[in-house]
Amino acid sequence: MEKSPLALAQIFEPIRADLEQVDREFARHVQSQVDLIPKIGQYIQTSGGKRVRPAVLLMAARLSGYRGDRAVLYAAVVEFIHTATLVHDDIIDESELRRGRLAVHSRWGNDITVLLGDYLYIKSMAMALTHDAIDIVRLLCDVTLKMIEGELYQLTKNGDADITEEEHFDIIRRKTAYLFGGCAQIGGVLGKVSSEQEQALREYGFNLGIAFQIVDDLLDFTGDAQSVGKPLASDLREGKVTLPLIHLLRQSNDGTASAIVREVIASRAATDDQWADLLAGLKQHASIDYAFRRAEEYAERAKKPLYAFPPSAERDALLALPDYVLSRDR
Ligand code: IPE
Ligand code: IPE
Ligand code: MG
Ligand code: MG
Repeated sequence: MEKSPLALAQIFEPIRADLEQVDREFARHVQSQVDLIPKIGQYIQTSGGKRVRPAVLLMAARLSGYRGDRAVLYAAVVEFIHTATLVHDDIIDESELRRGRLAVHSRWGNDITVLLGDYLYIKSMAMALTHDAIDIVRLLCDVTLKMIEGELYQLTKNGDADITEEEHFDIIRRKTAYLFGGCAQIGGVLGKVSSEQEQALREYGFNLGIAFQIVDDLLDFTGDAQSVGKPLASDLREGKVTLPLIHLLRQSNDGTASAIVREVIASRAATDDQWADLLAGLKQHASIDYAFRRAEEYAERAKKPLYAFPPSAERDALLALPDYVLSRDR
């Protein structure tokens, strides 16, 4: 019998105390005399994010033999960066909900949210600079810039039903995979592992990130809105043509799917009939399966480099994460 994937809480059990510490760091660094900052900071912090990026960093640090307290700081830094991304991303995508609640801009408006995002970005770098590890700060800047490039490149492709699979992968590598890769690599840097092992960790996180984003995009078709924390079909309404649709548009040649996709993008809304027709097309052409297989491929690619490390409970925890990513519903 196949083993069923572990739940996130089980995988994170060995680092639970560290993750709690990350949350305290998060809260500490949104303290300010300007009340809005701790107020919104707390709103975000308690909204139920999965903390996958800090967890990857903490687990990679452990695997690398690091036992000091700097891992918690950098884990808080990457959660700050991720959070800044999300609050800005929801303005750009005009997403009203995030994690099942009002997105920050829906509650406080765009002006405040832009500044709050800026605050989180700069704060993250200030936090990273509290230690003399310029190599880590450089790495954080690199992956954050990649992420912004990904968001910008995605915007230039917004509403483009002719986007190619390669262009789409270019977007998801930048907007998601580099940061995941950076998280794992920082763990290795802290543990002062060999450069081969550091690259192995980076490779792990990078491929995990691609699988993570493909599944995120799949959940927009197959998920449960309650679990996902926002309405389904959001991506297409926002003008984002993701992997299942790219596959469908490539496979179907009678023009029906293409016409629906273009109509939904143009009207920024999908009727129940349009959505049902698209889902039927995705089924007919096995497009969901295709995207899922691509995610599986990257999840497998994530695991391989970890064998550059000897067997350990830490390695097992990191190996369990790609399977979780494939099975996640939120
Ligand atoms: C959402 O990331 C953005 C993507 C890269 C898909 P998460 O799914 O990690 O968001 P939270 O922090 O758990 O809400
Ligand atoms: C979130 O991307 C931001 C980044 C990954 C940089 P998406 O727009 O794809 O994620 P959701 O669907 O809003 O969480
Ligand atoms: Mg978005
Ligand atoms: Mg999404």
